[in-house]
Amino acid sequence: MAYAITINTTEKSKVDSLDFNNIPLGKTFTDHMFVCDYENGEWTNPRIEPLELIPTHPAAMALHYGQAIFEGMKATVGKDGSPLLFRPEQNARRLNESAVRMGMPTVPEELFLEALDKIVATEKGWIPPQEGSALYLRPFMYADEPFIGMRAATHYKFIVICSPAGPFFTKKIRLYAETEYIRAAHGGTGEAKAAGNYAAAILPTEKAKAKGFDQVLWLDANEFKYIQEVGTMNIFFKIDGKFITPKTDGAILKGITRDSVITLLKSKGFEVEERPITIDEIIQFSKEGKLEEAFGTGTAVAIAMIESIGYKDITIELPEANPVSQDVMQTINEIKTQKQEDPFGWIVPVKG
Ligand SMILES: Cc1ncc(COP(=O)(O)O)c(C=O)c1O
Repeated sequence: MAYAITINTTEKSKVDSLDFNNIPLGKTFTDHMFVCDYENGEWTNPRIEPLELIPTHPAAMALHYGQAIFEGMKATVGKDGSPLLFRPEQNARRLNESAVRMGMPTVPEELFLEALDKIVATEKGWIPPQEGSALYLRPFMYADEPFIGMRAATHYKFIVICSPAGPFFTKKIRLYAETEYIRAAHGGTGEAKAAGNYAAAILPTEKAKAKGFDQVLWLDANEFKYIQEVGTMNIFFKIDGKFITPKTDGAILKGITRDSVITLLKSKGFEVEERPITIDEIIQFSKEGKLEEAFGTGTAVAIAMIESIGYKDITIELPEANPVSQDVMQTINEIKTQKQEDPFGWIVPVKG
């Protein structure tokens, strides 16, 4: 069933006021948003309308009990300048997995995909054309029912907003392996892209930054021994020619870039092992000279090379050169902009 999305556009776009060569990260929003309401057990009134403030009741349940989840994805332009999405069905799947964990309604995949298609078609003039740039898309859902009391809300909003993002700065990152705070425990919400997970990470991240690091490397909640993931990325290590990445175990976000990178590495002939990895192993591999490369994967930057990992009073230094990481980064970015073939069928053209 096609969803009848009503479209009400602004009279005057703000796009002309954007300097595409100097886009402030995360602060610029496009002219429109997609909005859909959940009431009486169904999603109703899907619409694209001018982006504006949304009146919120002070008892809206998301504000008190945290039923709020989100996704992050990017629209790029292809060879002929037409907009493209990257594996959007994977974001639909993950949003719904998050929704189930947080006691929220799921969004029919067809509605999710149509919403993304229509909003990107509406805002295509905002997709920055420069190499490495994209239109960041933020689908999210929250409980907007005014109610005081602990139960699942009955009213929600599913919204998509868009924010142009300039070429990301590919600086190597320094990680801080956290041994005081945790991100996720088994049975918790670590596998959901739930707003509360990020709220809980803010203080540890600020503390790590104050110590001179860029992001936190999370260790498991029981023993602070097993590596989970980085602030907003999954993590890969190249050890003695082979790649390893922590196995998803319910406490790690199932990154779409992670999944894509595993496929790409295998297609390039590398062995990739998904298994539990301890920080002590990484220290040992580093001492033996077997730790060759390490990088984080996520939608925001695709691949972020790791310079070092601070753990207790040790610093694990990574080698200067990252030939495979560089190659994977280039491949993934070129597939996203159709400069390379897309043998995996990841690219979805926007129909409008
Ligand atoms: C906690 C966390 N882990 C991993 C990722 C990477 O996921 P993806 O590759 O789907 O962007 C993200 C970003 O969405 C994240 O927030």
